[in-house]
Amino acid sequence: MYRDFAHLSINRPTHTIYPWLRFSEPASNPKLNFKESLMSKLLHIDSSILGGNSVSRQLTAQIVASWRASHPGTEVSYLDLAADAPSHLSAESLGFRLPAGSALSEVQQRENAVSEALVSQFLAADVIVVGAPLYNFSIPTQLKAWIDRVAQVGRTFAYTEKGPVGLAGGKTVIVASSRGGMYSTSEAGNATEHQESYLKVVFGFFGITDVRFVRAEGLAMGEAAKATALAAADLDIKAVAAQAANQPEAALAA
Ligand SMILES: Cc1cc2nc3c(=O)[nH]c(=O)nc-3n(C[C@H](O)[C@H](O)[C@H](O)COP(=O)(O)O)c2cc1C
Repeated sequence: MYRDFAHLSINRPTHTIYPWLRFSEPASNPKLNFKESLMSKLLHIDSSILGGNSVSRQLTAQIVASWRASHPGTEVSYLDLAADAPSHLSAESLGFRLPAGSALSEVQQRENAVSEALVSQFLAADVIVVGAPLYNFSIPTQLKAWIDRVAQVGRTFAYTEKGPVGLAGGKTVIVASSRGGMYSTSEAGNATEHQESYLKVVFGFFGITDVRFVRAEGLAMGEAAKATALAAADLDIKAVAAQAANQPEAALAA
């Protein structure tokens, strides 16, 4: 059962996490178009279990700071899935998949409220920055639990006679990918990682075509390799943060 819904960080006012966000700043970047100069919403998600030693947390913080510098009218909300993960899907938490009007137990209603809060928060965001470490060839289980809550028929996707259609298009997703080994430089590596490839598929399934990657890999291969990985990620951050939001052809750092 979900602990206490009130403690979910998604309910925390943004300014308690980012105190400097109390006031929106006027857009000052002349390269921004009119839509960009309006207040846009960025959802910052972390999922690493390594706390202060986490590389992906370091990268998401840098990405958000760079994005705000290039897109000054940005309102940020934060979700720490290592601290506040929804429970894994179960009979109790599958209520949102039951037909409308189904009788729901008290627990199912509470779980539905968690799923609803998470999917609404996701749908309200224009830009989502996701910290996604590679754990056992895939994403952290906490991040998967979040995806399971936001993958909802009629909200983020639908099935039609022609097949599935994504309902959450028009967003930009920036994934901070951190990996102990090297995967991007060989076919075998690409075939064995189910982290970046999975996230590209699942966000694509939701209709999001602008999925960008900031990658630090080879982090467990010695100090020199780690320094090279962080320098490469730094360049990725500059590139992804400088681009306007929702560019269907956005460069994937592959
Ligand atoms: C539980 C666990 C599983 C991991 N599995 C892999 C793996 O399958 N492949 C890999 O290259 N690195 C693996 N690593 C190393 C992480 O990818 C690396 O430490 C990375 O920095 C994790 O991101 P984080 O620091 O943000 O948590 C694993 C680390 C942990 C803690």
